[in-house]
Amino acid sequence: MAKFDFSKRDRFGSKIGIIAAAAGSAIGLGNIWRFPYVAGENGGGAFLLIYVGFIILIGVPVMLSEFTIGRRAQRNAYGAFKLLKPKQHWYLVGFMGIVAAFTILAFYSTVAGWTLEYLINSITNAYEGKTSAELSSMFDKFIGGGVRPVIFQLIFMFLTASIVFAGVKHGIEKYAKILMPILLLIIIVLCVRSISLPGAGDGLNFLFNPDFSKIKASTVLEALGQAFFSLSIGMGTLITYGSYISKKENLPITTVQVSAADTFIAILAGIAIFPAMFAFNIPTHESGEGLVFKVLPLLFNEMPGGFYFQLLFCLLLIVAALTSTISVLEVVVAYFTEQLNISRKKATVIAASSIAVLGIFCTLSFGQVYLEIFNPYPGSFRLGLFNILEYLSANILLPLGGFFIVIFVGWYLGRKNVNDEITNSGMLRVRLFSIFLFIVKFLAPLAIALVFLHGMGLIAF
Ligand code: TRP
Repeated sequence: MAKFDFSKRDRFGSKIGIIAAAAGSAIGLGNIWRFPYVAGENGGGAFLLIYVGFIILIGVPVMLSEFTIGRRAQRNAYGAFKLLKPKQHWYLVGFMGIVAAFTILAFYSTVAGWTLEYLINSITNAYEGKTSAELSSMFDKFIGGGVRPVIFQLIFMFLTASIVFAGVKHGIEKYAKILMPILLLIIIVLCVRSISLPGAGDGLNFLFNPDFSKIKASTVLEALGQAFFSLSIGMGTLITYGSYISKKENLPITTVQVSAADTFIAILAGIAIFPAMFAFNIPTHESGEGLVFKVLPLLFNEMPGGFYFQLLFCLLLIVAALTSTISVLEVVVAYFTEQLNISRKKATVIAASSIAVLGIFCTLSFGQVYLEIFNPYPGSFRLGLFNILEYLSANILLPLGGFFIVIFVGWYLGRKNVNDEITNSGMLRVRLFSIFLFIVKFLAPLAIALVFLHGMGLIAF
């Protein structure tokens, strides 16, 4: 079989493009759709505190490790491990990342499809004058309704594939650079709207005032999973993006900028949503996957110019989701093109359509027929494929991937190689290098292992 010509690899063209693409990957439905509902279910302030702690202590080191591996090897996630440690089984970590890309994109594209429905309902003003109960039942009917959410999901997969199709510099980077700044602007407008509502203070209190009595073992694992999910780490997305970054860029600074931007947007999303929930008496623990879709129309209904704000918000969600889905698909496409030497176009079509098949089952798993077959005790626990893949990806595959990534950089890549890559062969002064090395060798693996085993109920303190 012919081998892929690695001298033909694409790369990011500019500094701002790298940050926009990496931040574009990190900032997505994870921040705007997932963070508020998971934080709401896990007690608010205390969850936020643990979440931010994990971002700094574990997320930043894992992200820098991924960039380091990717740029060192100049390969896709699987090929990078294979190249750096040829005689060992580290490529399995890369392979696990490819599998995680499938599971993540399958359920993520379901939610991405919901954002298209949201857009259409906003354009047609379908939410106007609706009560909280009416909005809830509208949403539940839509996701349980079979073919419509599937069509939207497929449209979204098609959009994703058409951008990845065009390659790194002309596809991913170009779109990210235009779309990311618009996103920040719109969400700030939303926050201003939300905190000026009567009763907003209680929402801010819920988000920023930690109540540690609400912390359970599962809460801590949820916070870790959310940190990984939101930063796009643990499965090789940032190994792949790292491989497109020029040898002149400053990896530690890029890492800190991307993590800070991602965390900032998640908190902004919380500021937009919780005050609104309190203002409209929506219980925080009842949030669930539908949260933003059920709550935000209420908020928009109550504001002057709400029609336009809502339109803007939908566009924001779609943009955020798209820059993330392309980064997940790129992991699989880079693997197919470089390891199996398939053309980028063919690889994109194969990857996107096979993920779409799995995705359709996720979307249908909210439907009545599916639930009657697979969920014999409705209400007791959720056994839909969507929920299974969401849990499996965020709370199992990503922490596991992150664990092996830091072990690899801490113990196997070699201190000199790591130092070379992070300091651009001694050109940059990186003052915290020994702290970074200490974290990836000891602290991060230990913390991930303890949180994981504890959260799964395998050990107790
Ligand atoms: N981080 C994205 C979000 O918050 C989702 C995402 C993109 C992702 N690439 C990833 C999650 C890789 C985990 C791993 O929406």
